[in-house]
Amino acid sequence: MRKIIAAGNWKMNGSREMTQTLLSELKTGLQAGTNADVLVFPAFGYLQQAVELVKGSVIQVGAQNLSTAEKGAFTGEMSGAMLKDLGCTHVLVGHSERRAMNHETSEVVAEKFAMAQKTGLVPVLCVGETLSEREAGNTKVVVAAQLQAVLDHCGVDSLADSVLAYEPVWAIGTGKTATPEQAQEVHAFLRNTLSALDAKIADSLRILYGGSVKGANASALFAMQDVDGGLVGGASLDSGQFLEICAAA
Ligand code: 13P
Repeated sequence: MRKIIAAGNWKMNGSREMTQTLLSELKTGLQAGTNADVLVFPAFGYLQQAVELVKGSVIQVGAQNLSTAEKGAFTGEMSGAMLKDLGCTHVLVGHSERRAMNHETSEVVAEKFAMAQKTGLVPVLCVGETLSEREAGNTKVVVAAQLQAVLDHCGVDSLADSVLAYEPVWAIGTGKTATPEQAQEVHAFLRNTLSALDAKIADSLRILYGGSVKGANASALFAMQDVDGGLVGGASLDSGQFLEICAAA
């Protein structure tokens, strides 16, 4: 049985006040217990505040990005060691917004994945196709190539200490969620691809779905055999919505 993960990617949203309010509402809402592993990914500037606030709760804190480098003259970057030092447990790598806007190639993403693990963070590897790639029938080719870059760079064993997230770009922030069947098809494909290399790792790997997950659609998505939780953007900024998603676990 794979435990469901409810992960909130806050993206470039928030303030000290919002971090305080949102996390205290989540803590209160989760006090009675939850079946989910709960993760939040605030922007860099609020990580330390978030880590302090979640103490004594089930919530864990991750970052949205890390540098490929260990340290040194990389102005504006954050290293995995710094994130670990701040108390982060997880880090997103390969989010489609970074692939598109920051020109991160799958090879760079694989380097970040390796660096996350080297510094003791759990990488959450995001893969997903654009609308035109889907319409051209290339969804599986695209996600397989994104996964393959990590396999080439880090080996299949590295997937044992990671989380995978399938986030179709056309479903992100659009209100257009993949149907549970569409999500399941890609999740099963990803798991089968890994299964051919290592069945045990494939079976225990948690694969999250991301793209307009809300309180109202989380249960149907999480009910699919290979959907092991959600990576939630917009709805994770609303404690009521995010708690509903946690409850769907
Ligand atoms: P939305 O839930 O806002 O569609 O964002 C999904 C996402 O990109 C999470 O990383």
